[in-house]
Order: sequence, then C-alpha cells, then structure tokens
Amino acid sequence: MNKKFYITTPIYYPSANFHIGHCYTTIIADAIARFKRQQGYDVCFQTGTDEHGQKIENKAKESGISPKEYVDHIVKNSKDLWDYLDISYDKFIRTTDAIHEQAVQKIFVQLYEKGDIYKGEYRGLYCTPCESFWTETQVVDGNCPDCGREVHEVTEEAYFLKLSKYQDQLVEYIESHPEFIQPESRKNEMINNFIKPGLEDLCVSRTSFTWGIQVPFDKKHVVYVWLDALTNYITSLGYLGNDDSEFRKYWPADLHLVGKEIVRFHTIVWPIMLMALNLPLPKQVFGHGWLVVNGEKISKSLGNYRDPREYIDKYGLDAIRYFVLREVPFGNDGSFSEDSLVARINSDLANNLGNLVQRTISMGNKYFSGIITNKNVIDTVDETFLNSINDLYDEVENKMNQLHISEALESIFEVLRKANKYIDETTPWILAKEETQKQRLETVIYNLLESIRICAILLQSFLPTTSKKILKQINNNKVDFQFIFDNEYQLGNPSPLFQRIEK
Ligand code: MSP
Repeated sequence: MNKKFYITTPIYYPSANFHIGHCYTTIIADAIARFKRQQGYDVCFQTGTDEHGQKIENKAKESGISPKEYVDHIVKNSKDLWDYLDISYDKFIRTTDAIHEQAVQKIFVQLYEKGDIYKGEYRGLYCTPCESFWTETQVVDGNCPDCGREVHEVTEEAYFLKLSKYQDQLVEYIESHPEFIQPESRKNEMINNFIKPGLEDLCVSRTSFTWGIQVPFDKKHVVYVWLDALTNYITSLGYLGNDDSEFRKYWPADLHLVGKEIVRFHTIVWPIMLMALNLPLPKQVFGHGWLVVNGEKISKSLGNYRDPREYIDKYGLDAIRYFVLREVPFGNDGSFSEDSLVARINSDLANNLGNLVQRTISMGNKYFSGIITNKNVIDTVDETFLNSINDLYDEVENKMNQLHISEALESIFEVLRKANKYIDETTPWILAKEETQKQRLETVIYNLLESIRICAILLQSFLPTTSKKILKQINNNKVDFQFIFDNEYQLGNPSPLFQRIEK
C-alpha cells in the first residue's frame, strides 16, 4: 500500500483579479504534490474557493445579480487560472457545494450540543474585506492591521466558539509538536502574540447579512465565514457525509500551505475546532511569506496589479514557475520584478539548462548521428561529476522534505552547472579531431546525457513542460534517478528550451 499525502492550499476568495502573489501558494503546493507523487505517495492535492460572506453579498448586489450567480460566474476564473498554470490539483471544493454546506451545519449543531458553541452578544471591530474581527489593541489608527482599510464597530446577537476552553491544550500541543507550525518564527509569533496573552471566545455567527450557511436551529444567523471556510479541509473528504472513505484515508492533512497572514486562523481556530470535534490535527501548517512588488503586497488597490497570464504569455509558464519557486527562500517575503525574472531566465534557464541540452544533443548528432551508448572510457574528471549526479536525488528529496524548495532547485541547477563545466574540461571538439579518442568522446557525451536525463526527471515537479520537452529531445525516459551504465540513446532534434531575453 502506498503512503498517503494530503496537501491543501487555502480556498481562495473568488476574484476576477488574481495576481502573481495568489499563484504563489498554488505553484508551491503543486510542486510539492508532484514531487510526492513521483516518490510514490498516494497524493490528494486540494484547492478551492471560499464563496460566502458579506463582501461577496455586496459585490453581487452591485452587479444586480444573486450571490450564487455572482460566484458561479467568477469561480470559473480561478479554475481557468489554475489550468493556465497547469496546477495538478486532485480536488476542488467550493463552499457552496451541498456536501460542504450540510457538513458545516452538522458540525455547528454538534459543537452547540456539546456546549463548545454558545449564544451571546458580540461587540467588535470588523474588517469587511478580510472578513476578520479585531480588538481595539490590534487595529492600527482605526484600520485593519492586515489590509489597512477602515474597520467598523458591530454589535449583534451571536454564537461563540469557546477558544478559551482549549487554550492550554493548544499550547501543550504546539509545544510538544515542533513541526506543527513552520517556519519556527511563525510558531513563536502565534504563541507569544496571540495565544499566551489569552484567547477570547470567537464570534462564529452573523445576523447582519444572509449570504452564508444558515445555523439550522436559529435561522436568522449564518455561520461565520472562517468557521465555514476552515472546515473545507474535511468536508471535501466526505466528513459527516454519506461516504467518508476519503476522510478516513487522507485525514489528518500532511500539509496546510498558507500565506503568513492566515496562519493565525489555521493554527488557533482550526486546531481548536478539531479538538472540539475530537479529530486529529493536521501534521503541519506552513506559513509562507508574500511576493511583494517594491516592498508592498501586490493588490489591485495598491495599483501594482497585473494579470499573471500576461507574464505567462510573455515569458512562458515554466519561467514563471521557476522564478516563483527559485527566487524566494521559502518562508520569507520575496520580491517580484520583471528585471529579476528576466535575469533568472537568461542565467539559469537559457544559459545553464537550455545551452547544455542543446550543445549535448547537437554534439551527439554531429559526431555519432544521434546513436550513443556507454563506451566506458573513463577519466579522473568523470568521478566527481558522476558522484554529484548519483547524489542528486537524495539531496533533492532531503530538501523537499524540509520544504526547502528553492534549495532543491538549486541542487539540480548545480549539477547542470557541473555538466557545463564538464564540457569545458573534457573539450569534446578536440577529442573529435582524433580517431583514437572516439570512444572517449562517446563516453563523455553519454555521461552528459545521463546527467541531463536525471535532471529532467527531477525537474518534472517544478518545470513539467520543460521536463517533458527535454525527455522528448533526448528521446529517453528511463525512470531511474541513478546513473545507468547500459542506457541507449537515439537522439531527437534539439530545439531551444528558453530564448535569451535581450533588454
Ligand atoms: N479565503 C481565505 C482562505 C481561507 S482558507 C480556509 C483567503 N483567501 S485569499 O484569496 O485572500 O488568499 C489565498 C492565498 O493567497 C493565501 O494563502 C494568501 O496568503 C495568498 N496570497 C495572496 N496574496 C499574496 C501575495 N502577494 N504573495 C503570496 N501569497 C499571497 O485568505
């Protein structure tokens, strides 16, 4: 039986204006999911849309249509974008799916009957765009500390979730499971800034609007959108539904990948809900940094927004995927700019990778009419090169297990660099001049082809299209991560993988 791996992105607020920052979580989750599949895991990779709440209700009203019509129309935009980015998700959940709505209602009733949800009165400062409540001490000059927009005072009869009851249990859990909140800095932030000062019970219903999941026993209330949204990770698997086989198979999640601003919900509210439901907690919540432009988060309101499809059309999908995965040390913020994108394309993709593949195939075609086998005429320079090829899989696996994605890519590109250096050291064009060196020349090209093959297979998780193109050009897809001694190559024609971009 395969080991399972359940990975999720947050479910996105449906929007017509997804930017490159939105693609960040999804591209990373996709690379991890593909890598786990390659390792033989039974992967469930889930994404989806978070469709309830006042913000959507207001937008639908502005457009003169019902909220459901509004979301049905706009959800297509997320799916289209993920298709454009070749995201290999297995499940797409919408919070308007019947299976989700029914399970949320059952969860609400269960927690109410258990006494973990109770009725009270809410007074608080609410940020509508973020669907978040803040305390007086958290707001900054009357504005939301996350998005900077104005918060409004709200007073209403409401239901509350007893976060306070589970505070000690949560701290105990976080401290005894150091891998639960990653990176480490986010764990300290959660404990010191949010949990230790004291958890207040969370308001989990609203009466000021209707676009949400109704509280079944008190119909003027709808369930707070974060409570509704967080449960997507289990409702999609059939929890409390007719068929919960996927829930039994995949839960607990192995990884919830989320942006740093929503770590709070995923490491406080969500685990407490699960504790109240007597369910196991996800193994890890990883809070990644943001892609920023000139130091600012990307957003339409800040005026630094561009449709990610524009970049993809201009530079190619794999170039964008590469940049996002490589440029930002995972966990920190990283800067997105067209200049640094072009620099990466030229140095890593066109020069290092593209040239290597093209040069090697051209030499194979020129000197051996494309038919190459291992003549095993080795030299001392071969040893370090071949060792680095054979160590590559373990290195990449080790880095991916720690979610050091940029470093995993760096390891692959380091081998590509060594392959280019190997060409300079072995000077095939000089070997080609002497008949006696023919077998040595074929060995050199064979070694290069093996290094390209292994790198191409490992690049499948990160640059799926390019990986396919390379394997097609070298016309060999033996899936072995180690150097094969008796492989046979019948090369195809080389065509440039990436064009150098002149400014
Ligand atoms: N709907 C909530 C999540 C509910 S999960 C139970 C939400 N949606 S969102 O559409 O606003 O954000 C989705 C993801 O995109 C989040 O992980 C968020 O951090 C990420 N990003 C949005 N802008 C970003 C950047 N500029 N950079 C990197 N990621 C950012 O939050």
